[in-house]
Amino acid sequence: MAIQVGIIGFGYMGHFHMRKVRSFPEDATLVAVYDIKEEALADAREEGLKACTSVEEFLALPLDLVVVSTPNNYHAHYAKLAMKAGKNVLCEKPVTMSAAELEEVMAVSAETGKIFTVHQNRRWDVDYLEVVSAVRSGDIGKITTIESTVLGERGVCFGWRGDPVAGGGMLYDWGVHLIDQLLMLYPGEKVVSVYARLLSVLTPAVDDYFELTFKFSGGTTARVTVGTFALQKKPRWFVFGDRGTLKLDDFSGQIGGMARIKADVKGFDSVVGIKSLGPSRTMAPLEKEMLEPLELPVVEDQPLEFWRNLIAAVEGKEECYIKQFQLLRQMKIVDAAFLSSEKDEVIKVEI
Ligand SMILES: NC(=O)c1ccc[n+]([C@@H]2O[C@H](COP(=O)([O-])OP(=O)(O)OC[C@H]3O[C@@H](n4cnc5c(N)ncnc54)[C@H](O)[C@@H]3O)[C@@H](O)[C@H]2O)c1
Repeated sequence: MAIQVGIIGFGYMGHFHMRKVRSFPEDATLVAVYDIKEEALADAREEGLKACTSVEEFLALPLDLVVVSTPNNYHAHYAKLAMKAGKNVLCEKPVTMSAAELEEVMAVSAETGKIFTVHQNRRWDVDYLEVVSAVRSGDIGKITTIESTVLGERGVCFGWRGDPVAGGGMLYDWGVHLIDQLLMLYPGEKVVSVYARLLSVLTPAVDDYFELTFKFSGGTTARVTVGTFALQKKPRWFVFGDRGTLKLDDFSGQIGGMARIKADVKGFDSVVGIKSLGPSRTMAPLEKEMLEPLELPVVEDQPLEFWRNLIAAVEGKEECYIKQFQLLRQMKIVDAAFLSSEKDEVIKVEI
């Protein structure tokens, strides 16, 4: 029998999850919505769903899975309530507002035996999967630094995203996705230091720009930049290896390049004896014959994979891809980033 699904918070992401559930007509049925706004409930009725005006009425329904897609400050509250009512929970990101709050939610999941997982859907972004493939292949050597950048032009965190009480700001919004992606690149390593600088450039009260640098125990540095106001582009990814470089310009993963030096070229030694190389010998381009261009990795786009796995997990057939210990690491980095920015210090950690 198809699993019965309900959604708390029927806004942009609530509708997104409705479409995903409806992509699995045999295995999952969306039955109900709870929202505090009448427009959202009216919308739910138009979609043929039961529109609940209280959370008690909603949680009394025989639901197998509750999706929490409210503003960030309600995630922990509804997740705990739903698990205590015997429901499995998919929560939107950021999982919670802090690691301590997540630990409370995890305790309820352990007590009730209910699934608690989070929509870290950007683990399936094709640009990210290409970075994973390039890094794991070793094609560009040992990775020294990975730069992950997301920039917009409007300079605003709109709606509740501009409200600090609701968990607004870009570290909670984009930061958690980008931290999650980077942590999953090196699952066996610890993060040993965190430095962050959060700014309100055009949106008051929350960070509409941040820089975050964290270092892995294996020596790779991750550098994340998110800005809502940048009128020129930077690449989405820039990966420095000790034999080559990868650049991906945008989310499509189609534009960019990857190259490495040929096995017999030793980099610095290649300029010895060359007399003129423009304004700088050190920074002069490498001769073409020393270079080996590489094809960008080819990866599979799997837009339904997250939900396929989630349904299988609720049916008891698979484990969820997104695990609580991974979320806890992510939130500890978020906590350290807020602290680092406040103190303007590098925070030594073991995460
Ligand atoms: N995974 C992703 O890629 C992704 C993308 C966008 C947003 N999100 C996350 O999804 C969540 C929702 O974001 P959104 O863009 O859909 O916001 P939204 O404002 O479009 O929708 C939020 C909905 O929650 C309702 N709501 C507000 N307070 C509530 C409460 N106390 N109880 C019940 N309902 C309440 C609102 O009425 C609204 O319908 C956020 O946590 C956000 O970070 C995730």
